[in-house]
Amino acid sequence: MDIKSIRGMNDVLAPEIFSWRMAEKIIRENFEKFGFSEIKTPIVENTTLFSRNLGETSDIVKKEMYTFLDRNEESLTLRPEGTAPVVRALVEHNLLNQDPVQKLYYWGPMFRYERPQKGRYRQFYQYGIEIFGVAAPQMDAELIAMLVDLYEKFDLKGLTVKLGSMGCEECRPKYRETLMSLLKPSAHILCNDCKERVEKNPLRVFDCKNPTCKEIAKVLPSMLDFLDEGCKKHFDAVRDNLVLLKTHFVVDKTLVRGFDYYNRTVFEITTEDLGAQNAIGGGGRYDKLTQELGGAACPAIGYAGGVERLILLVGEREEWKPKLQLFVVTPDERGMERAFQLAFSLRKNGVTAEIDYTGKSMKSQMKKADKLKAKHVLILGGTEIDQNAAVLRNMSTKEQETLKLTDLEAELLRRLK
Ligand code: HAM
Repeated sequence: MDIKSIRGMNDVLAPEIFSWRMAEKIIRENFEKFGFSEIKTPIVENTTLFSRNLGETSDIVKKEMYTFLDRNEESLTLRPEGTAPVVRALVEHNLLNQDPVQKLYYWGPMFRYERPQKGRYRQFYQYGIEIFGVAAPQMDAELIAMLVDLYEKFDLKGLTVKLGSMGCEECRPKYRETLMSLLKPSAHILCNDCKERVEKNPLRVFDCKNPTCKEIAKVLPSMLDFLDEGCKKHFDAVRDNLVLLKTHFVVDKTLVRGFDYYNRTVFEITTEDLGAQNAIGGGGRYDKLTQELGGAACPAIGYAGGVERLILLVGEREEWKPKLQLFVVTPDERGMERAFQLAFSLRKNGVTAEIDYTGKSMKSQMKKADKLKAKHVLILGGTEIDQNAAVLRNMSTKEQETLKLTDLEAELLRRLK
């Protein structure tokens, strides 16, 4: 059989899986501590959910969606991100009627047809949070500070919080027009994508990796210089509140995020340790999206981080690997009979126990116990049974004790649990 996994879609195996599990545990606990409840949305949605709401000129909508017709000729898309599905669910289930403030989080796979490289995959996992019903700039600052605190739990160093603003429907059009008129004279030397962007969405020129476009973008004015009074006040308040929470950040004058739904606050958290794919996460406000999806007007802000990038940064840690409490070594058939009942019963009672059924020599069973980093080894063979005893060996101190067979299980439970 020569069937391989799909390019850019990865299996996660041990020992890396232990870091995934621990990351998920830490992230869930952290979000729940801040009052977020989990939401699970389907992996597949109607294509229009994304094509209408992420931005028709965004890279994702233009060339990265996994879109297909189902058997009913309906156009469906594997979700490329989690915000639009969460808003769809919020509106569909009238969640804001139950409570006008909703704090939701999710963890799951997303799909983008990007060129795979380190830190960039076609199926990748995101952990995300979305907050609905709070317009106050304190929320923006609290969200960013909470994330910085979360990454501190993973001992991540060298992170930068980049803060920007996308303005609003009132002030952004003027900025767009200014960019358009500044870019038009040099449009002929821009890359093909940017040529199109000049007409449709000139802010995206800031996102282009092409060296010529980058040079041109360098001298363009910033959205921050075009903010109207309300947006400027909001931006300044977010900054002040971040200072109050002692959260370091830098103002990034040209931070534009990949989706059209953003307004006012946008931010990214980046690292120096991941090469080209340096964003461990990003987010921002999207105060108009609930309305666009047919719901009531409702301010909103959110963030999503990439799990694979986080795992690349945190690596594998010994303390995150499961611990084997007991390995039962059975030198012969008679021992095996007792040992296998004992191991099963110990596991039922909460002890992590392993046993070897392949009939290997005692030496190789001991080697296996060592490899699995068992804390204790129990030696139980015919000779031991004849002496009404079993030998318990502590693998780190190498001390051995003889335990009576009659109350062996109770004794092991007492010591190992
Ligand atoms: P995003 O910036 O597109 O935002 O993605 C967030 C994070 O997902 C990225 O910073 C990165 O860590 C990870 N990521 C994105 N694409 C890939 C990929 N191809 N391979 C591996 N990791 C990747 C959003 O998705 C928004 N929905 C965030 C948001 C939530 N805004 C408001 N609420």
